[in-house]
Amino acid sequence: MTATKGLEGIVATTSSISSIIDGVLTYRGINIDELAEKASFEEVAYLLWFGKLPNATELAQLQQQLGEAAAVPGAVIDQLKLFPKDANSMAVLRSAVSALALYDAEANEMSKEANIRKAIRLQAQIPTVIAAYARIREGQEPVAPKADVSVAENFLYMLTGQTPERIAVEALDKALVLHADHELNASTFAARVTVATLSDIYSGVTSAIGALKGPLHGGANEAVMAMLEEVGTMENVEGYVARKLENKEKLMGFGHRVYKNGDPRAKHLQVMSKELGKITGNLNWYEMSVKIEELVTGQKGLKPNVDFYSASVYTSLGIPRDLFTPIFAISRASGWTAHILEQYDNNRLIRPRAEYTGPASAAYVPISQR
Ligand code: ACO
Repeated sequence: MTATKGLEGIVATTSSISSIIDGVLTYRGINIDELAEKASFEEVAYLLWFGKLPNATELAQLQQQLGEAAAVPGAVIDQLKLFPKDANSMAVLRSAVSALALYDAEANEMSKEANIRKAIRLQAQIPTVIAAYARIREGQEPVAPKADVSVAENFLYMLTGQTPERIAVEALDKALVLHADHELNASTFAARVTVATLSDIYSGVTSAIGALKGPLHGGANEAVMAMLEEVGTMENVEGYVARKLENKEKLMGFGHRVYKNGDPRAKHLQVMSKELGKITGNLNWYEMSVKIEELVTGQKGLKPNVDFYSASVYTSLGIPRDLFTPIFAISRASGWTAHILEQYDNNRLIRPRAEYTGPASAAYVPISQR
Protein backbone atom coordinates (compact mmCIF):
# COMPACT_ATOMS: atom_id res chain seq x y z
CA MET A 1 0.00 0.00 0.00
CA THR A 2 1.52 3.32 -1.12
CA ALA A 3 -0.12 6.63 -0.30
CA THR A 4 -0.47 9.48 -2.81
CA LYS A 5 0.04 12.77 -1.01
CA GLY A 6 -3.12 14.87 -1.18
CA LEU A 7 -4.77 12.04 -3.18
CA GLU A 8 -3.47 13.74 -6.33
CA GLY A 9 -4.76 12.01 -9.45
CA ILE A 10 -6.85 9.53 -7.46
CA VAL A 11 -10.31 8.94 -8.92
CA ALA A 12 -12.43 8.51 -5.80
CA THR A 13 -15.97 8.33 -7.15
CA THR A 14 -18.12 8.49 -10.24
CA SER A 15 -20.29 11.57 -10.70
CA SER A 16 -22.49 13.00 -13.44
CA ILE A 17 -22.70 16.51 -11.95
CA SER A 18 -19.67 18.42 -13.20
CA SER A 19 -16.55 17.56 -15.14
CA ILE A 20 -13.06 18.95 -15.68
CA ILE A 21 -11.71 17.39 -18.86
CA ASP A 22 -8.67 18.85 -20.63
CA GLY A 23 -9.07 22.04 -18.61
CA VAL A 24 -12.71 22.51 -19.62
CA LEU A 25 -15.30 22.77 -16.84
CA THR A 26 -18.88 21.69 -17.47
CA TYR A 27 -21.96 21.40 -15.27
CA ARG A 28 -23.96 18.38 -16.48
CA GLY A 29 -22.05 18.62 -19.77
CA ILE A 30 -22.75 22.33 -20.39
CA ASN A 31 -19.62 24.45 -20.72
CA ILE A 32 -19.17 26.91 -17.84
CA ASP A 33 -18.44 29.70 -20.36
CA GLU A 34 -21.93 29.33 -21.79
CA LEU A 35 -23.58 29.11 -18.37
CA ALA A 36 -21.68 32.19 -17.17
CA GLU A 37 -23.07 34.18 -20.10
CA LYS A 38 -26.60 32.83 -20.23
CA ALA A 39 -27.79 31.12 -17.05
CA SER A 40 -29.06 32.45 -13.74
CA PHE A 41 -27.87 30.91 -10.48
CA GLU A 42 -31.32 29.39 -9.89
CA GLU A 43 -31.20 27.69 -13.31
CA VAL A 44 -27.78 26.32 -12.45
CA ALA A 45 -28.91 25.05 -9.05
CA TYR A 46 -31.82 23.26 -10.75
CA LEU A 47 -29.42 21.82 -13.34
CA LEU A 48 -27.09 20.51 -10.63
CA TRP A 49 -29.88 19.01 -8.51
CA PHE A 50 -32.10 17.55 -11.23
CA GLY A 51 -29.68 16.91 -14.10
CA LYS A 52 -31.42 19.10 -16.68
CA LEU A 53 -32.16 22.77 -17.28
CA PRO A 54 -35.57 23.78 -15.92
CA ASN A 55 -38.39 24.88 -18.19
CA ALA A 56 -40.10 28.18 -17.31
CA THR A 57 -42.64 26.56 -14.96
CA GLU A 58 -39.99 24.51 -13.16
CA LEU A 59 -37.77 27.55 -12.74
CA ALA A 60 -40.63 29.68 -11.40
CA GLN A 61 -41.52 26.91 -8.97
CA LEU A 62 -37.94 26.64 -7.71
CA GLN A 63 -37.68 30.43 -7.32
CA GLN A 64 -40.89 30.37 -5.30
CA GLN A 65 -39.65 27.52 -3.09
CA LEU A 66 -36.35 29.31 -2.46
CA GLY A 67 -38.15 32.56 -1.65
CA GLU A 68 -40.59 30.90 0.72
CA ALA A 69 -37.83 29.00 2.55
CA ALA A 70 -35.42 31.93 2.93
CA ALA A 71 -36.48 33.03 6.42
CA VAL A 72 -34.52 31.19 9.13
CA PRO A 73 -36.05 30.09 12.45
CA GLY A 74 -36.09 32.84 15.08
CA ALA A 75 -34.14 30.58 17.44
CA VAL A 76 -31.20 30.56 15.00
CA ILE A 77 -31.28 34.37 14.73
CA ASP A 78 -31.28 34.47 18.55
CA GLN A 79 -28.18 32.26 18.57
CA LEU A 80 -26.44 34.51 16.03
CA LYS A 81 -27.03 37.37 18.46
CA LEU A 82 -25.20 35.43 21.18
CA PHE A 83 -22.11 34.75 19.07
CA PRO A 84 -19.06 37.00 19.59
CA LYS A 85 -19.26 40.07 17.32
CA ASP A 86 -15.72 39.45 16.06
CA ALA A 87 -16.17 35.75 15.28
CA ASN A 88 -14.84 34.30 12.03
CA SER A 89 -17.79 34.49 9.65
CA MET A 90 -17.17 30.99 8.24
CA ALA A 91 -17.13 29.61 11.79
CA VAL A 92 -20.44 31.41 12.38
CA LEU A 93 -21.89 29.90 9.20
CA ARG A 94 -20.64 26.42 10.14
CA SER A 95 -22.28 26.69 13.57
CA ALA A 96 -25.50 28.21 12.23
CA VAL A 97 -25.98 25.54 9.55
CA SER A 98 -25.49 22.91 12.21
CA ALA A 99 -28.08 24.71 14.36
CA LEU A 100 -30.58 24.91 11.46
CA ALA A 101 -30.84 21.10 11.61
CA LEU A 102 -32.17 21.33 15.17
CA TYR A 103 -35.20 23.30 13.97
CA ASP A 104 -35.94 21.23 10.85
CA ALA A 105 -38.52 18.55 11.61
CA GLU A 106 -37.26 16.62 8.56
CA ALA A 107 -33.56 16.84 9.49
CA ASN A 108 -33.15 13.09 9.91
CA GLU A 109 -35.74 12.02 7.34
CA MET A 110 -33.81 10.16 4.63
CA SER A 111 -36.29 9.87 1.73
CA LYS A 112 -35.13 11.39 -1.57
CA GLU A 113 -38.06 13.84 -1.55
CA ALA A 114 -37.19 15.05 1.96
CA ASN A 115 -33.52 15.43 1.02
CA ILE A 116 -34.43 17.54 -2.02
CA ARG A 117 -36.65 19.73 0.16
CA LYS A 118 -33.77 20.14 2.64
CA ALA A 119 -31.32 20.97 -0.15
CA ILE A 120 -33.63 23.79 -1.26
CA ARG A 121 -34.08 25.00 2.32
CA LEU A 122 -30.33 25.03 2.94
CA GLN A 123 -29.72 26.90 -0.30
CA ALA A 124 -32.36 29.44 0.68
CA GLN A 125 -31.26 29.90 4.30
CA ILE A 126 -27.46 30.08 4.03
CA PRO A 127 -27.56 33.61 2.50
CA THR A 128 -30.02 34.72 5.19
CA VAL A 129 -27.75 33.50 7.99
CA ILE A 130 -24.70 35.27 6.55
CA ALA A 131 -26.50 38.57 5.98
CA ALA A 132 -28.15 38.42 9.41
CA TYR A 133 -24.84 37.90 11.21
CA ALA A 134 -23.17 40.65 9.16
CA ARG A 135 -25.81 43.09 10.45
CA ILE A 136 -26.02 41.79 14.01
CA ARG A 137 -22.27 42.27 14.55
CA GLU A 138 -22.69 45.92 13.50
CA GLY A 139 -25.45 46.37 16.08
CA GLN A 140 -28.21 46.34 13.42
CA GLU A 141 -31.34 44.21 13.25
CA PRO A 142 -31.38 41.53 10.51
CA VAL A 143 -33.43 42.36 7.42
CA ALA A 144 -36.10 39.74 6.63
CA PRO A 145 -35.66 38.12 3.19
CA LYS A 146 -38.01 38.92 0.31
CA ALA A 147 -39.97 35.98 -1.09
CA ASP A 148 -39.97 36.98 -4.76
CA VAL A 149 -36.42 37.94 -5.75
CA SER A 150 -33.35 35.98 -6.80
CA VAL A 151 -30.82 34.54 -4.36
CA ALA A 152 -28.27 37.18 -5.44
CA GLU A 153 -30.68 40.09 -5.07
CA ASN A 154 -32.02 38.84 -1.75
CA PHE A 155 -28.55 38.50 -0.28
CA LEU A 156 -27.52 42.04 -1.24
CA TYR A 157 -30.88 43.36 -0.01
CA MET A 158 -30.59 41.57 3.36
CA LEU A 159 -27.04 42.83 3.78
CA THR A 160 -27.88 46.51 3.32
CA GLY A 161 -31.67 46.83 3.68
CA GLN A 162 -31.64 48.63 0.30
CA THR A 163 -32.76 47.37 -3.09
CA PRO A 164 -29.45 46.66 -4.84
CA GLU A 165 -28.54 48.06 -8.26
CA ARG A 166 -29.21 45.79 -11.23
CA ILE A 167 -25.52 45.65 -12.17
CA ALA A 168 -24.59 44.48 -8.67
CA VAL A 169 -27.23 41.74 -8.76
CA GLU A 170 -26.04 40.60 -12.20
CA ALA A 171 -22.41 40.52 -11.10
CA LEU A 172 -23.12 38.54 -7.94
CA ASP A 173 -25.42 36.19 -9.85
CA LYS A 174 -22.64 35.45 -12.34
CA ALA A 175 -20.15 34.87 -9.53
CA LEU A 176 -22.61 32.40 -7.98
CA VAL A 177 -22.94 30.58 -11.31
CA LEU A 178 -19.15 30.31 -11.61
CA HIS A 179 -18.64 28.92 -8.09
CA ALA A 180 -21.61 26.53 -7.98
CA ASP A 181 -19.82 23.23 -8.52
CA HIS A 182 -16.37 21.92 -9.21
CA GLU A 183 -16.14 18.16 -9.45
CA LEU A 184 -14.50 16.54 -6.41
CA ASN A 185 -13.04 19.64 -4.73
CA ALA A 186 -12.04 19.35 -1.06
CA SER A 187 -15.29 20.62 0.47
CA THR A 188 -17.48 18.51 -1.81
CA PHE A 189 -15.39 15.46 -0.98
CA ALA A 190 -15.80 16.26 2.74
CA ALA A 191 -19.59 16.45 2.25
CA ARG A 192 -19.64 13.13 0.40
CA VAL A 193 -17.48 11.38 3.00
CA THR A 194 -19.80 12.57 5.76
CA VAL A 195 -23.07 11.50 4.15
CA ALA A 196 -21.60 8.22 2.92
CA THR A 197 -21.95 7.08 6.54
CA LEU A 198 -25.68 7.76 5.98
CA SER A 199 -25.44 10.82 8.16
CA ASP A 200 -27.86 13.65 7.33
CA ILE A 201 -27.56 16.44 4.75
CA TYR A 202 -26.99 19.13 7.42
CA SER A 203 -23.97 17.18 8.70
CA GLY A 204 -22.66 16.91 5.13
CA VAL A 205 -22.99 20.66 4.49
CA THR A 206 -21.50 21.51 7.89
CA SER A 207 -18.44 19.36 7.06
CA ALA A 208 -18.19 21.06 3.68
CA ILE A 209 -18.26 24.55 5.21
CA GLY A 210 -15.43 23.54 7.52
CA ALA A 211 -13.36 22.38 4.55
CA LEU A 212 -14.14 25.44 2.42
CA LYS A 213 -12.98 27.79 5.20
CA GLY A 214 -9.28 26.96 4.77
CA PRO A 215 -7.01 29.32 2.78
CA LEU A 216 -5.90 26.57 0.40
CA HIS A 217 -9.55 26.28 -0.72
CA GLY A 218 -12.36 28.86 -0.44
CA GLY A 219 -10.57 30.96 2.15
CA ALA A 220 -8.17 32.05 -0.58
CA ASN A 221 -10.52 34.80 -1.86
CA GLU A 222 -10.27 36.65 1.46
CA ALA A 223 -6.52 36.06 1.52
CA VAL A 224 -6.24 37.61 -1.97
CA MET A 225 -7.94 40.79 -0.76
CA ALA A 226 -5.71 40.86 2.32
CA MET A 227 -2.74 40.65 -0.06
CA LEU A 228 -4.06 43.48 -2.27
CA GLU A 229 -4.62 45.65 0.81
CA GLU A 230 -1.14 44.84 2.11
CA VAL A 231 0.42 45.75 -1.24
CA GLY A 232 -1.66 48.92 -1.23
CA THR A 233 -0.36 50.67 -4.34
CA MET A 234 0.91 49.82 -7.79
CA GLU A 235 4.51 50.84 -6.95
CA ASN A 236 4.68 48.15 -4.26
CA VAL A 237 3.56 45.27 -6.48
CA GLU A 238 6.91 44.31 -7.95
CA GLY A 239 8.77 44.27 -4.63
CA TYR A 240 5.96 42.34 -2.94
CA VAL A 241 5.83 39.60 -5.57
CA ALA A 242 9.63 39.34 -5.71
CA ARG A 243 9.83 38.93 -1.91
CA LYS A 244 7.10 36.29 -1.86
CA LEU A 245 8.68 34.25 -4.63
CA GLU A 246 12.16 34.60 -3.15
CA ASN A 247 10.93 33.37 0.24
CA LYS A 248 9.05 30.52 -1.48
CA GLU A 249 5.80 31.78 0.02
CA LYS A 250 2.51 31.11 -1.72
CA LEU A 251 0.69 33.86 -3.57
CA MET A 252 -2.96 33.48 -2.82
CA GLY A 253 -5.33 33.02 -5.73
CA PHE A 254 -2.71 31.29 -7.89
CA GLY A 255 -2.23 27.66 -8.80
CA HIS A 256 -4.62 24.76 -8.87
CA ARG A 257 -4.42 21.04 -8.25
CA VAL A 258 -6.28 20.14 -11.44
CA TYR A 259 -5.86 23.08 -13.85
CA LYS A 260 -2.31 23.53 -15.00
CA ASN A 261 -3.09 25.83 -17.94
CA GLY A 262 -5.44 28.18 -16.18
CA ASP A 263 -8.79 28.10 -14.42
CA PRO A 264 -11.58 28.71 -16.97
CA ARG A 265 -13.60 30.66 -14.38
CA ALA A 266 -10.91 33.26 -13.75
CA LYS A 267 -11.31 35.13 -17.05
CA HIS A 268 -15.00 35.82 -16.38
CA LEU A 269 -14.18 37.25 -12.98
CA GLN A 270 -11.37 39.32 -14.48
CA VAL A 271 -13.79 40.93 -16.95
CA MET A 272 -16.27 41.60 -14.13
CA SER A 273 -13.54 43.06 -11.95
CA LYS A 274 -12.63 45.56 -14.67
CA GLU A 275 -16.24 46.49 -15.45
CA LEU A 276 -17.14 47.01 -11.80
CA GLY A 277 -13.95 48.98 -11.21
CA LYS A 278 -14.94 51.33 -14.02
CA ILE A 279 -18.42 51.76 -12.56
CA THR A 280 -17.16 52.48 -9.03
CA GLY A 281 -14.41 54.72 -10.40
CA ASN A 282 -11.74 52.68 -8.60
CA LEU A 283 -9.69 50.49 -10.92
CA ASN A 284 -6.85 50.26 -8.42
CA TRP A 285 -7.62 46.73 -7.19
CA TYR A 286 -8.16 45.48 -10.74
CA GLU A 287 -4.97 47.04 -12.08
CA MET A 288 -2.89 45.77 -9.19
CA SER A 289 -4.34 42.30 -9.75
CA VAL A 290 -3.41 42.40 -13.44
CA LYS A 291 0.14 43.42 -12.58
CA ILE A 292 0.46 40.67 -9.96
CA GLU A 293 -0.84 38.14 -12.48
CA GLU A 294 1.68 39.31 -15.09
CA LEU A 295 4.57 38.86 -12.67
CA VAL A 296 3.49 35.59 -11.07
CA THR A 297 2.56 33.95 -14.38
CA GLY A 298 5.65 35.35 -16.07
CA GLN A 299 8.12 34.32 -13.38
CA LYS A 300 6.55 31.19 -11.90
CA GLY A 301 4.20 29.96 -14.63
CA LEU A 302 1.31 29.94 -12.15
CA LYS A 303 -2.09 31.09 -13.40
CA PRO A 304 -4.84 32.78 -11.37
CA ASN A 305 -7.63 30.59 -10.05
CA VAL A 306 -11.31 31.42 -9.38
CA ASP A 307 -10.44 33.21 -6.14
CA PHE A 308 -8.01 35.75 -7.58
CA TYR A 309 -10.31 38.21 -9.37
CA SER A 310 -13.35 37.41 -7.22
CA ALA A 311 -11.65 39.40 -4.44
CA SER A 312 -11.73 42.68 -6.38
CA VAL A 313 -15.22 41.88 -7.74
CA TYR A 314 -16.70 41.52 -4.23
CA THR A 315 -14.81 44.58 -2.99
CA SER A 316 -16.30 46.64 -5.84
CA LEU A 317 -19.73 45.40 -4.76
CA GLY A 318 -19.05 46.90 -1.32
CA ILE A 319 -18.95 43.52 0.41
CA PRO A 320 -16.73 43.25 3.50
CA ARG A 321 -13.68 41.03 3.00
CA ASP A 322 -14.62 38.42 5.58
CA LEU A 323 -17.88 37.67 3.74
CA PHE A 324 -16.10 36.57 0.56
CA THR A 325 -15.71 32.94 1.62
CA PRO A 326 -19.30 32.78 2.98
CA ILE A 327 -20.45 34.01 -0.47
CA PHE A 328 -18.52 31.12 -1.98
CA ALA A 329 -20.52 28.88 0.38
CA ILE A 330 -23.83 30.43 -0.80
CA SER A 331 -22.97 29.32 -4.31
CA ARG A 332 -21.31 25.99 -3.55
CA ALA A 333 -24.25 24.93 -1.34
CA SER A 334 -25.93 24.00 -4.65
CA GLY A 335 -23.05 21.76 -5.68
CA TRP A 336 -22.58 20.26 -2.21
CA THR A 337 -26.23 19.29 -1.93
CA ALA A 338 -26.31 17.93 -5.51
CA HIS A 339 -23.32 15.72 -4.65
CA ILE A 340 -24.94 14.64 -1.37
CA LEU A 341 -28.09 13.60 -3.25
CA GLU A 342 -25.94 11.71 -5.78
CA GLN A 343 -24.01 10.01 -2.98
CA TYR A 344 -27.23 8.81 -1.31
CA ASP A 345 -28.47 7.48 -4.67
CA ASN A 346 -25.50 5.15 -5.09
CA ASN A 347 -23.97 4.97 -1.65
CA ARG A 348 -21.11 2.99 -0.26
CA LEU A 349 -19.19 3.93 2.89
CA ILE A 350 -16.05 5.91 1.93
CA ARG A 351 -13.25 4.32 3.89
CA PRO A 352 -9.81 4.39 2.27
CA ARG A 353 -6.61 3.01 3.79
CA ALA A 354 -3.48 4.67 5.19
CA GLU A 355 0.10 3.66 4.45
CA TYR A 356 1.50 3.04 7.93
CA THR A 357 4.82 4.79 8.63
CA GLY A 358 5.13 4.22 12.40
CA PRO A 359 7.36 1.66 14.18
CA ALA A 360 6.82 -1.92 13.05
CA SER A 361 6.61 -3.29 16.54
CA ALA A 362 6.92 -1.54 19.89
CA ALA A 363 6.61 -2.80 23.44
CA TYR A 364 4.18 -1.41 25.98
CA VAL A 365 6.21 0.25 28.75
CA PRO A 366 4.50 0.45 32.16
CA ILE A 367 3.99 4.07 33.27
CA SER A 368 6.34 3.70 36.23
CA GLN A 369 9.22 2.93 33.84
CA ARG A 370 8.64 5.80 31.37
N1 ACO B 1 2.17 30.58 -5.02
C1 ACO B 1 3.47 30.20 -5.12
N2 ACO B 1 3.83 28.95 -5.40
C2 ACO B 1 2.86 28.04 -5.57
C3 ACO B 1 1.51 28.37 -5.50
C4 ACO B 1 1.17 29.71 -5.20
N3 ACO B 1 -0.09 30.08 -5.11
N4 ACO B 1 0.76 27.27 -5.74
C5 ACO B 1 1.61 26.28 -5.94
N5 ACO B 1 2.88 26.73 -5.85
C6 ACO B 1 4.09 25.96 -6.01
C7 ACO B 1 4.42 25.24 -4.71
O1 ACO B 1 5.19 26.01 -3.83
C8 ACO B 1 5.13 24.02 -5.24
O2 ACO B 1 6.44 24.40 -5.60
P1 ACO B 1 7.67 23.39 -5.39
O3 ACO B 1 7.32 22.19 -6.24
O4 ACO B 1 8.82 24.18 -5.87
O5 ACO B 1 7.68 23.07 -3.92
C9 ACO B 1 4.39 23.69 -6.51
O6 ACO B 1 3.87 24.94 -6.97
C10 ACO B 1 3.23 22.70 -6.30
O7 ACO B 1 2.38 23.23 -5.29
P2 ACO B 1 1.46 22.37 -4.37
O8 ACO B 1 1.05 23.20 -3.19
O9 ACO B 1 2.05 21.03 -4.09
O10 ACO B 1 0.24 22.16 -5.35
P3 ACO B 1 -1.14 21.53 -4.94
O11 ACO B 1 -1.71 20.93 -6.15
O12 ACO B 1 -1.02 20.69 -3.73
O13 ACO B 1 -1.95 22.83 -4.48
C11 ACO B 1 -3.21 24.75 -4.35
C12 ACO B 1 -2.92 23.49 -5.17
C13 ACO B 1 -3.54 24.39 -2.91
C14 ACO B 1 -4.41 25.44 -4.98
C15 ACO B 1 -1.96 25.67 -4.42
O14 ACO B 1 -1.72 26.07 -5.73
C16 ACO B 1 -2.10 26.88 -3.50
O15 ACO B 1 -1.82 26.77 -2.31
N6 ACO B 1 -2.55 28.03 -4.04
C17 ACO B 1 -2.78 29.21 -3.21
C18 ACO B 1 -4.11 29.09 -2.46
C19 ACO B 1 -5.28 29.21 -3.38
O16 ACO B 1 -5.36 30.10 -4.20
N7 ACO B 1 -6.26 28.31 -3.19
C20 ACO B 1 -7.51 28.33 -3.96
C21 ACO B 1 -7.56 27.20 -4.91
S1 ACO B 1 -9.02 27.24 -5.91
C22 ACO B 1 -10.26 26.82 -4.85
O17 ACO B 1 -10.14 26.06 -3.96
C23 ACO B 1 -11.49 27.47 -5.01
